[in-house]
Amino acid sequence: MTTTRTFTMIKPDAVANGHIGNILAMITNAGFKIVSLKLTQLTVSDAQAFYAVHAARPFYGDLVEFMSSGPIVAATLEKENAVADFRTLIGSTNPAEAAEGTIRKLYATSLSQNAVHGSDSDENAAIESTFHFATREEF
Ligand code: TYD
Repeated sequence: MTTTRTFTMIKPDAVANGHIGNILAMITNAGFKIVSLKLTQLTVSDAQAFYAVHAARPFYGDLVEFMSSGPIVAATLEKENAVADFRTLIGSTNPAEAAEGTIRKLYATSLSQNAVHGSDSDENAAIESTFHFATREEF
């Protein structure tokens, strides 16, 4: 069995609303192993850099402001088929369109404040994980 990794953040809305424990339980119950984990807060320039791919989009300013507005949980996760399986677990970007039982359906506030991040490729998972964690913090 080949395991792969993905990167997630529990976003400021879900942290502020007290959902860290329930979301981590859903992640581990779905078979993901946590290999890095921390409570942290992005600066404005951290959030700008993390979401640089969206810099030209109309929602970029609000996204940066929201993602730097309070603490987040950053984590790297390991599982077979991690990127795709985690995207299934979190559900659609817009919680109104997310499937029943997904993390975003259960815990997201809105399209822009949607509870969790999940990497969209193996390559981005590695880049995002390195953005947040030193080598000694990855297991
Ligand atoms: P995106 O990478 O398209 O979605 P996902 O997080 O599901 O990979 O967008 C990044 C984040 O930007 C998204 O989680 C929430 C925010 N966003 C908006 O605020 N408005 C929008 O119209 C879109 C598409 C995203």
